[in-house]
Amino acid sequence: MASDASATPGAKDSSAPVPQAVLQALTSAAIFLIVTVNPGSTSRGIIRAFCPDLSALLRAVGFRDVAGTLSCIMGIGSQAWDRLFGDPRPAELHPFREIKAGSRHAVATPGDLVFHIRAKRMDLCFEMATQIMARIGPAVSLVDEVHGFRYFDDRDLLGFVDGTENPGGQEAMVAAIIGAEDATFAGGSYVIVQKYLHDIAAWNKLSTEAQERIIGRAKLSDIELDDAVKPTSAHNALTTIVEDGQEKKIIRDNMPFGRAADGEFGTYFIGYSRTPRTTEQMLENMFVGRPPGNYDRLLDFSRAASGCLFFVPSVTFLDAVGDEAPAPAAAPSDPPAGMRAPASDGSPSDGSLGIGSLKGGPSHE
Ligand code: HEM
Repeated sequence: MASDASATPGAKDSSAPVPQAVLQALTSAAIFLIVTVNPGSTSRGIIRAFCPDLSALLRAVGFRDVAGTLSCIMGIGSQAWDRLFGDPRPAELHPFREIKAGSRHAVATPGDLVFHIRAKRMDLCFEMATQIMARIGPAVSLVDEVHGFRYFDDRDLLGFVDGTENPGGQEAMVAAIIGAEDATFAGGSYVIVQKYLHDIAAWNKLSTEAQERIIGRAKLSDIELDDAVKPTSAHNALTTIVEDGQEKKIIRDNMPFGRAADGEFGTYFIGYSRTPRTTEQMLENMFVGRPPGNYDRLLDFSRAASGCLFFVPSVTFLDAVGDEAPAPAAAPSDPPAGMRAPASDGSPSDGSLGIGSLKGGPSHE
């Protein structure tokens, strides 16, 4: 991963595309909403019309309690991208790649759009989700809606503090926000989500020391185990990726969720990265093992019940989406102002936002 901050949008150039709130500080409440977009041009039109309105909706709901720090990130899956926007497409956008190894399975599940809604208060998240569904409800089918809560001092339901090693500040920006490597989609990010369900009874039968060796940190103090005692299969060992002497990080905002009476205890994993390859490598290490067979023992107690990959465009991109259909036959003869395709060298040909033409893409109906 590039470590050159100047290659990161927003680092120095105030005209750079504005990222969505990927770098938001951890909050105490979150809703993870995943939907598929219904067939037909009406549904596509509803979603496209919604894209530029998302920021205003967020401002309206968030202003009801500014201190509640409401944020909402919208991500778009690979197939949905083709239907909604056509070409150009983000360089590394593809469907979530499932992994099968032994009894471990990182499943791939449906999902065209994700909304990651965060705030200090669940009522703000809930209101935002309600307003989103009021706008796009007729155009989508619900896949999953999970309400996550902060559990004591940022712990997951396994009892460990979760999120400690997240990068901050400029390091977070470099880890999660696309820069010059995909200039058309600069300011964007990739996000992988997985809903994990824990066998909490089996986990709680382990001694605290055994649990600590699985996670790689002390349970009470959250201090990292010394390398002399930390197994190479520890969760924080397998998810540490070093390439060319540089550690490759992602931004996580895992949230506990569950239903006590149903015996449902879960962790909603969400990881943002500048390239999906980093998170995919972590998953490979966890599920297959590094070396193969030396897998993450967390998976003996946690099952992945979902798995999706989305592209998170910049706010600048979403704000500029027009509501015309991308299919060539249905597109007007001229794209609206500010929407012309970039020149072949990748630079905007018309002083536009440089996000590429939203017409002329393939029709997928
Ligand atoms: C059952 C689901 C999961 C649980 C309960 C869980 C929990 C934890 C905990 C407790 C830590 C140590 C504290 C911290 O640094 O945050 C941690 C670290 C970490 N986890 Fe997870 N995690 C889960 C899934 C994942 C997945 C799927 C990935 C990536 C694909 C991942 C990536 C990481 C990374 C990168 C670290 C930091 C490693 C380091 O630099 O020390 N985790 N996780």
